[in-house]
Amino acid sequence: MKKQPGWALPSLKDAQIRTKHESVIEKSLFEIPVEARTLGAGRTYYLRTYGCQSNQRDSETIAGILEALQFQAVDSPETADLILMNTCAIRKNAEDKVLGELGSLKRLRKQNPDILFGLCGCMAQEEEIVDTLLKKYPHVDLIFGTHNIHRLPILLYQAMMNKEKTIEVFSKEGEVIENLPVRRFGNHKAWVNIMYGCDKFCTYCIVPYTRGKERSRSVEDILEEVRILKEQGYREVTLLGQNVNAYGKDLHIENGFASLLEEVAKIGIDRVRFMTSHPWDFSEEMIDVIARYDNIMPFIHLPVQSGDSDILKLMGRRYTIEEYKQLVDNIRSKVKNAAFSTDIIVGFPNESEEQFQHTLDIVDYVKYDNAFTFIYSPREGTPAARMEDNIPLDVKQERLQRLNAKTNYYAHLNNEAYLGNVYDVLVDGPSKKNKAVFAGYTEANKLVNFKTSTAKPGDIIKIKIVKVKTWSLDGEEIID
Ligand code: 5AD
Ligand code: SF4
Repeated sequence: MKKQPGWALPSLKDAQIRTKHESVIEKSLFEIPVEARTLGAGRTYYLRTYGCQSNQRDSETIAGILEALQFQAVDSPETADLILMNTCAIRKNAEDKVLGELGSLKRLRKQNPDILFGLCGCMAQEEEIVDTLLKKYPHVDLIFGTHNIHRLPILLYQAMMNKEKTIEVFSKEGEVIENLPVRRFGNHKAWVNIMYGCDKFCTYCIVPYTRGKERSRSVEDILEEVRILKEQGYREVTLLGQNVNAYGKDLHIENGFASLLEEVAKIGIDRVRFMTSHPWDFSEEMIDVIARYDNIMPFIHLPVQSGDSDILKLMGRRYTIEEYKQLVDNIRSKVKNAAFSTDIIVGFPNESEEQFQHTLDIVDYVKYDNAFTFIYSPREGTPAARMEDNIPLDVKQERLQRLNAKTNYYAHLNNEAYLGNVYDVLVDGPSKKNKAVFAGYTEANKLVNFKTSTAKPGDIIKIKIVKVKTWSLDGEEIID
């Protein structure tokens, strides 16, 4: 399909350039034009979210906007007038899943000729993907990028009322927009964005191109949001950013994240979490703040990516494995009962067996409570995608299995230490698998299943651990 006037298509070249321009905090950029105010009246939407917590949080904004337009949420695509996929671009298999799903949902147009298909999120930021959508998925009516969410009312209006295919993807990040609506998906746990984008440019990663440069929200806006959440009865907040440690650098705030974390903790919400932290700028001040406040959870997601310093260098990670170990030791010496989770990539271009062994060694060293492990997936436009790779896929798959066997071993071993002890558990609600059983999380983010006749979602209760599994614990409520 030929480019239409009015479309803004993604450009990898633009996304690769970083401007010196400092982001402005915009308090009134979002608006609903009068003609769009009842766009969703009598209509339903189905929003499907893939990928990371930033996407989850974006979906809460998208849902907030749709509901401000009077759309009503439904939980199956079959009954929806608007189907929106908020997508992830981090690995090819995540993208294939979305494209497969989009293909199979096309049939719904036969039942409902007015149905509208939309795609947003990180995949929308990719030139290659938008090309594919135009060529092979002509039923997609609306495509908008991660920097265009605030424009949703206008874009939807064009797509629905003018019946025009609508594409608006800005490759340059915009400002920090503060007045967006939100429909939170949780009643006692909330995500709070503290910054957007990433300037680390790890060589394998597409995120700096899909989410733009680092832009921090102001301290006051973040604290105000947390205060309101506390007043509304929320018990836990997770401060979100691709690399929260870089918080405030663009605003020239010294020790930005450490001081923000401390201010958030002082508000007195029961549980404060944060993610993700890059080991390179995990400061001593941050460790001290985590150690000082009981309501900052001693659970640290610290992606290592590889256990080999040469691979880390090729990945552009800015630390050696010795420095990483030192950081873990340092955190452990100050933060009591610190638990760690991590992300690991196997099969980075030309990773040797010996280099992979070093990854197994770091797992033995840290004994992670949880690890998210991936096979390297080349991403168009990233430096690593241009590296020649002589490691066959079956070797990578076999390495992933060996790695998973080890990370599972430590997950189980760490859980065994919980047996017979009592922990504070924040109650989520009935478990997904069995409605008679409730699920909740300990401070170290362990999933606990238990029976209860009294506890309600949002309560923090004492649970004694009676059985240990690899990915969860079974417990009994202690009633005093
Ligand atoms: N291939 C495989 N895994 C990747 N990740 C990021 N980019 C890639 C890629 N190209 C992983 C990293 C990151 C996590 C969110 O996804 O481990 O920490
Ligand atoms: Fe990607 Fe590295 Fe930024 Fe994480 S820190 S989002 S892995 S570039």
